[in-house]
Amino acid sequence: MGVGVSLGEGGTPLLEAPRLSELLGCELWLKWEGANPTGSFKDRGMAVAVSRALERGAPGVVCASTGNTSASAAAYASRAGLPALVLLPAGAVARGKLAQAIVAGAELRQVDGSFEDAHREARRLAETEGWVNVNSVNPDRLDGQASAAVEIAEQLGEVPDVLALPYGGGGNTCAYVLGFQRAGRGTPRLLAVQVGQRADTIATAIRIVRPVHRERAEAAAEVVTVDDEEIVRWWTAIARLEGLFCEPASAAGVAGVAKVRPGGRVVCVLTGHGLKDPDAVDRL
Ligand code: F0G
Repeated sequence: MGVGVSLGEGGTPLLEAPRLSELLGCELWLKWEGANPTGSFKDRGMAVAVSRALERGAPGVVCASTGNTSASAAAYASRAGLPALVLLPAGAVARGKLAQAIVAGAELRQVDGSFEDAHREARRLAETEGWVNVNSVNPDRLDGQASAAVEIAEQLGEVPDVLALPYGGGGNTCAYVLGFQRAGRGTPRLLAVQVGQRADTIATAIRIVRPVHRERAEAAAEVVTVDDEEIVRWWTAIARLEGLFCEPASAAGVAGVAKVRPGGRVVCVLTGHGLKDPDAVDRL
């Protein structure tokens, strides 16, 4: 279906990464999702989810978030003329993401607990208040995010041998599976890259202890586990060798490729912009 509420999401660059390719022994491409309107891939799914919420006459949208979903929900809700309520794990959301939600006028509620606690509360509020939950348990989100895989197949003229991406709740991994099915040119080997210390990582975007899409994501993808040191090493390498400043979690795909060394034509998804988390630089 056509998207009613749009901020110009999608159509992001797929950039060749010659220096990283040499270092990692493969032909590496970077899908630059930081180029989306609010600076992350979430915009693809939010455009569809908020459009459908509006169509259904929903009074508002609600989500839990480690930051990017809330920034995106706030922006698309404003665009749609709907209120947004965002539930955030207190003290664990990067500054740029908070700033986005505040300026867009979303109602912010800090939850004293983890992402899971905030997520439970978001689902409860959606059920009791009739607001639409725009977390990735909402199938409209994955429907929209699937467009990234279709774009990659078009940009390369075929599917890559390998696709590597950060693994938080696993929704995006499932969305890529769906998108490659839609593209109809086969499915690459999928590497879903998580940080071993899920509860306490510099990659705050994927600070999720119990991935809600675990079963489907892990049936489709190989799980690769890296640590914060590897995240930081590849986060800076992406900026220093290829000029792209992503947020720490977004470096997980490249860190996973460095670990597995799959060879062939590889696409790593850089899921979010580095400006979202300026304080991460203090860890260098
Ligand atoms: N990369 C970034 C930058 C993210 O913000 C997220 C998830 C992921 C990767 C992982 O995607 O959960 O579909 O496996 N962020 C969510 C949020 C949890 O609230 O913004 P996933």
